[in-house]
Amino acid sequence: MCNVNQKRLKLGVLGSGKGSNFVAIAEAARSGEIPVDIVLVMSDSPDAGILDRAKSYGIASRYLFPGNSKTRLEAKEEQNYITALKEAGAEWIALAGFMRILKKDFLDAFPEKVINIHPSLLPMFPGLCAWKQAINYGVKVTGVTVHYVDSGIDSGPIIAQRAVPVKKDDTPETLHQRIQIEEHKLYPAVLKELALGEKGKYTLT
Ligand code: GAR
Repeated sequence: MCNVNQKRLKLGVLGSGKGSNFVAIAEAARSGEIPVDIVLVMSDSPDAGILDRAKSYGIASRYLFPGNSKTRLEAKEEQNYITALKEAGAEWIALAGFMRILKKDFLDAFPEKVINIHPSLLPMFPGLCAWKQAINYGVKVTGVTVHYVDSGIDSGPIIAQRAVPVKKDDTPETLHQRIQIEEHKLYPAVLKELALGEKGKYTLT
């Protein structure tokens, strides 16, 4: 359980999909397992499940138009995202299935405080559907990575990783399901370390 005097990590979560990683973080925060307050959930997709899931936890959630690019936030829209997150009091940003590249302005607004979860052992298989890439390549082990975000695609300093074996009879769906089980443990564990520690003093590997 958390020490009540402890500083709590004010977190903004960005996602484009169903939001199961958001739920894992929200559950860990609600149970007191991690000293995290999710102050805002934002999505670039008005129909994303993550927005409904945030509502069900009573957490503020917003769709914000991302601009016309399919792969990144455009400059003006990126400023809108920054403003909304700052106004909500977000100090750290967790990308939880947010499928757009963030640029320098966003990263400069939250220096060394933007993290991402990716369903592979980076630097293997960045980009879309990493679990399918793993099956197509034929690797025997893949996994999960949580890392600081830089302006590349699923790149930046690695914080923690977990391995997931690929089984002979895995389909992309069964492999992604097992990867997600590890994601849902690793993301809250990393946030707990970030809330408790200083950079470079992590005990996770
Ligand atoms: C997760 O598997 C996450 O690792 C992945 O999107 C999924 C979102 O699931 N992210 C990436 O591929 C980032 N390149 P969720 O909406 O259930 O959390």
